[in-house]
Amino acid sequence: MADRQDQRLFDLRWQRSERDLLSSLGRIYGDVPGLTERLKTLLAARWQERPRALKDLDIARDIEPDWFLSQRNVGYVFYIDRFSQSLRKVLEHIDYIEEMGATYVHFMPCLKPRPAPNDGGYSVMDYRAINPDLGTMDDLEAVAAAMRARGVSICIDLVLNHTAKEHEWAQKAKAGDPKYQAYYWMFDTDAEPKAYEKTLVEIFPADAPGNFTYYPDFRKWVWTTFNEHQWDLNWSNPDVFLEIVDVMLSLANRGVEVLRLDAVAFMWKRLGSNCQNQPEVHDLLQALRAATRIAAPALIHKAEAIVAPRDLVPYLGQGRHTGREANLAYHNNLMVQYWSSLASRDTTLMTHVLGTHFPETFRHACWATYIRCHDDIGWAITEEDGAAIPGVSGAGHRNFLADFYIGKYPDSFARGAIFQENAATGDRRNSGSFASLAGLEAALDAKDDAAAETAVQRMLMGVALICSFGGLPLLYMGDEIGLLNDYSFTKVTEHAHDNRWLHRPKMDWKAVARARKGEGPQGKLFSGVKHIVARRKAVPHIAADVPTRIINLGNPALFCFARPSDDGTMLGLFNFTEKWTSISADQLRGLGITRFRDLLGQGDVPSPNGAVAVAPYGRLWLV
Ligand code: GLC
Repeated sequence: MADRQDQRLFDLRWQRSERDLLSSLGRIYGDVPGLTERLKTLLAARWQERPRALKDLDIARDIEPDWFLSQRNVGYVFYIDRFSQSLRKVLEHIDYIEEMGATYVHFMPCLKPRPAPNDGGYSVMDYRAINPDLGTMDDLEAVAAAMRARGVSICIDLVLNHTAKEHEWAQKAKAGDPKYQAYYWMFDTDAEPKAYEKTLVEIFPADAPGNFTYYPDFRKWVWTTFNEHQWDLNWSNPDVFLEIVDVMLSLANRGVEVLRLDAVAFMWKRLGSNCQNQPEVHDLLQALRAATRIAAPALIHKAEAIVAPRDLVPYLGQGRHTGREANLAYHNNLMVQYWSSLASRDTTLMTHVLGTHFPETFRHACWATYIRCHDDIGWAITEEDGAAIPGVSGAGHRNFLADFYIGKYPDSFARGAIFQENAATGDRRNSGSFASLAGLEAALDAKDDAAAETAVQRMLMGVALICSFGGLPLLYMGDEIGLLNDYSFTKVTEHAHDNRWLHRPKMDWKAVARARKGEGPQGKLFSGVKHIVARRKAVPHIAADVPTRIINLGNPALFCFARPSDDGTMLGLFNFTEKWTSISADQLRGLGITRFRDLLGQGDVPSPNGAVAVAPYGRLWLV
């Protein structure tokens, strides 16, 4: 009986996604004899193996496929070793995860990496094993099941663009096996690499210059966009597609519910282009999505593409890919604009960028909103957007931000570092933890209580922003207790060369205990974060399928958006300066605000003299 029903479900789901799958594959690969059959056989086999509990989850997700758009969802992100030492021990902290209100936990890279250096785990040598320092696949399965029982979904990283050069496929390629050489980009001479290099950009210019590496032992040039040890996969080979689908389903069958698809922008190469965001990438992502929707419908996909606005939106599905591509994508522009407006105390550019380039909603998809993550901040502000603001230029503003966040200006509150200065282009990115970039480190050093309080307000404003903007907010471990820059990374041999470790500190459980008692600015921050998360869950206007409409109030201190929901309109108002500002009650009424109630602070907002005052770094969720 179960078998018949399973078969029936498979057939129905195949029918549902067949067109999405085969049309995109056809555009990428043309007519490859036998490809559809091989793929269907693979999907059917993985579906058969799928554990019953996950097949049940599939049905729940089929009934409510947009579950992740609900405001009840909140993400929490950590490195397993830095949070709890091992995978099993994550469960010892499950109460803490619940205390944070998380319904989604992202384990930073945890598949078996090459021995260090391994780019923080993004140089994977075995997709089918867990990093032995953290645990085993059985541990993953057990932890995922325990978390699922508590309503928490597990997300892990899947690196699609490259494998470690120690991966079995790479080893076979190196040994001369032509089948596996065709899994990578390998060239006999430097002619093609040189031709591609003409239009490629540098990802780690200071650390790993160039996009190709020559190996004298097997006399080939290999495409290595990121680091020498990360070999780019050749997605124009359908065998690579099949292999990765197999990996995705195998991980889903262990209980992984979200795959963070790493560095997807780079998956397709085209001579004469920068080899990022090519149209084929969107077909590939659609095909991957359709494939897993057939054999593991509970799985959702999150795309990591840290690119300019115009290139970013398509990852959530545009045109023929609408509703068919990634379910989640990082809103790096929201993150960049938060930091940009804080530094300039002016939201004009933010209002312009977020109001111009982004749709108000997506179909079956939404943003992953965040303020900090494990990576550097790349100042994704284009020349055009800079030029749209009087007195601003793209390059000038990017330079200003890079300097501001190393504390170079007298009015800078930040402590951070420059990441990967590109000598040729002048491009500079920044590293630093949320708290240190937002001023807490400098304030604590100076024993300046008022400045520490201001830093906390700055951070809470950011948390309130990502929790109400529209999307799934991701809280990065330690930010809730204001963990500062970790300068000890320079003493760890395999980390010293990469200052992104500045903002990847170990969890400080003693600091958590102090914060729980409400001690110090960190205590205030901690209870503030938990309050914002709890309020988010209670406010239906915040769900990700409610449009996010950016409003230009004409007041450069304030950033504002409307969330016109079935329950009425909510305005999000955020003061990006350390000064009081105000907005006229009439202007608010014109935007649909009638009750003057703040759903975040849960109080009525007075409007003496016909104006609503907004405190320094104040945030209001007004209805
Ligand atoms: C992603 C990761 C980053 C890593 C890169 C290469 O951008 O977030 O940490 O260095 O991919 O895998």
